[in-house]
Order: sequence, then C-alpha cells, then structure tokens
Amino acid sequence: MRHIPVLLREVLDLFAEVNLRTFFDGTLGAGGHAKALLEAHPEIERYIGCDRDPRAHALAQEVLAPWGEKVEFVHGSYAEQIALVDGCVDGFLIDVGVSSMQFDEKERGFSFMGDAPLDMRMDPEGDLTAAEIVNRYPEKELARIFFEYGEERRSRPVAKAIVEARKKRPIRTTGELVDIIKPVATRGKLHPATLVFQALRIAVNDELGQLEKGLKAALEKTCSSGRIAAIAFHSLEDRIVKNVFRDAKERVKILTKKPIGPSAEEIRANPRSRSSKLRAVEVL
Ligand SMILES: C[S@@+](CC[C@H](N)C(=O)[O-])C[C@H]1O[C@@H](n2cnc3c(N)ncnc32)[C@H](O)[C@@H]1O
Repeated sequence: MRHIPVLLREVLDLFAEVNLRTFFDGTLGAGGHAKALLEAHPEIERYIGCDRDPRAHALAQEVLAPWGEKVEFVHGSYAEQIALVDGCVDGFLIDVGVSSMQFDEKERGFSFMGDAPLDMRMDPEGDLTAAEIVNRYPEKELARIFFEYGEERRSRPVAKAIVEARKKRPIRTTGELVDIIKPVATRGKLHPATLVFQALRIAVNDELGQLEKGLKAALEKTCSSGRIAAIAFHSLEDRIVKNVFRDAKERVKILTKKPIGPSAEEIRANPRSRSSKLRAVEVL
C-alpha cells in the first residue's frame, strides 16, 4: 500500500506563512508531504529529501518528477545529513517511524505477520539487524530494550524465553520469534508480538537517538524565522520532541503548546494516523 501522509493539512498550515526557499525533509518516504509542500510553495528553490531507505527514493522520484532539479535526493540519516547542508534551511520536517511500504515488504522483517528473516533495517546497508540483537544481546539488555522501547510490561519473561530458545538454535525468522514470545508476552487488544517488534525496530534503527540528535542539529541549521516540525507516533518519541523544544526555549517560539493530533475524519480514512502527534517551533 502506498504511504498516506499523516497530518498533511496541519503540516501545510504550520508552514503556510513561511517563505520557504530551502526545505529539508528528513523522512521523505513516498514523498507525500513533499509533493503537497512543493505545490503550496512555488517559491521553494531547493527541496532536500533525505531517507535512509533507497527504495523510498525510487518511489518519491516518480511523484516529485515535475519539480525536476529543485528536488535533491539524499541517502542517509537525517541526524547526520542535516548538519551537512550548506547554508541554513527555512523549513525542517520529520515524520518518524516506518512507512506503510516498509511494513508491507514482508521480506524486510518489520511485520510479525508471515515469516521473514529478522532484519528490520530501514537502511539495507546498516550494520545492525534484529537477528543480531535477538541472538547476541545479554538477557538484561534485551529486557531493557523491550521495556523502554516497547513499554512491554512482561519484558523480563520475554527476554528469558528468547535466551532459552537461542541456546537450542539461533532464532532466524520473524515467525520463529513470534512463536517464542507469544506464550509469555503481554496479552490484550494488540497482537502479543506488537510491543516486542516495535522495540526491536526502534533499537535496530536507533530511532530515539536519531530523533534527539536530528532535532538538535535542526535547531542549529534553521534560519531565523524558519520553522521545525516533527511528527511522532508514540509517547517515547513525543517526549523527546517536547523536551528538545523546551530546552531550546531561549532560541525558539513554541508553536504547539499541546501536540496537534489527527481529526476524527483523518483517523477514519487512515487508521495509522491515530497516534500521530505534531509539534513545531519557530526559530527566533
Ligand atoms: C513515516 S515515513 C515518511 C513518509 C513521508 N512523510 C510521506 O509523506 O510519504 C518515514 C520514512 O522515514 C525514513 N526514516 C526513518 N528514520 C530515518 C532517519 N533517521 N533518517 C532518514 N530517514 C529515516 C524511513 O525509511 C521512511 O521511509
């Protein structure tokens, strides 16, 4: 399924008054936000579209073809790439997490449905895979990851079950991992593997570290009167966004006292938007 951009109207409203000459989109994905921003801001001279996933670029290239050389495609992590931009940017956007395309590409191991290698790398050139974490990390570290990144209340029994299983043979696939954790993980409305898979994905891609580092780098790179917007999908991410913005309060105006969430209509049309939260600042 093609990725549907979340909080699109709200993102456009945040940048509506800004004269955007240079824009840095740290999570280009399928280019949904990019297309709408380029349409709304004909003054854009340079739109830098960054993504760790080269497959995302292939899709975005089709969508953004009408803007030709205004769009620069950058492969890499936004936390590192934003610091390398020459000059300052008038707008910075990140919409974190995985895209619907990444989730649907079963062979990449993001989904607990089906059976695929335990990979979960957004960047296929990245060093760390989910298999490495699951088969090599000490039990205590596994429990910490599941508790902190997945908010899995049964993190310790899950870590123990994994360590017991891997003594017999390496855990190679998502299906094998699901079978191991299902009897011990938290039971509720969600599939019992949901929180553990979320935690592994965050750890493999250092998503929280990236977010904090990326926002701090964006604060250094955004021109005066430029704006920074970040869309988070769970409380851990939103807390980081809130804290980085709050710690910079001498240098920015906070535009969202409370985070902006999706309308009932958007949730109906795109259930994935349900937990999204947008925060933004203007650099003084
Ligand atoms: C939720 S999607 C973005 C969707 C996009 N805004 C759109 O409208 O199509 C997130 C994308 O960000 C990329 N991504 C996640 N973390 C990243 C990082 N630290 N650096 C660069 N790209 C990242 C993922 O590979 C994925 O393609």
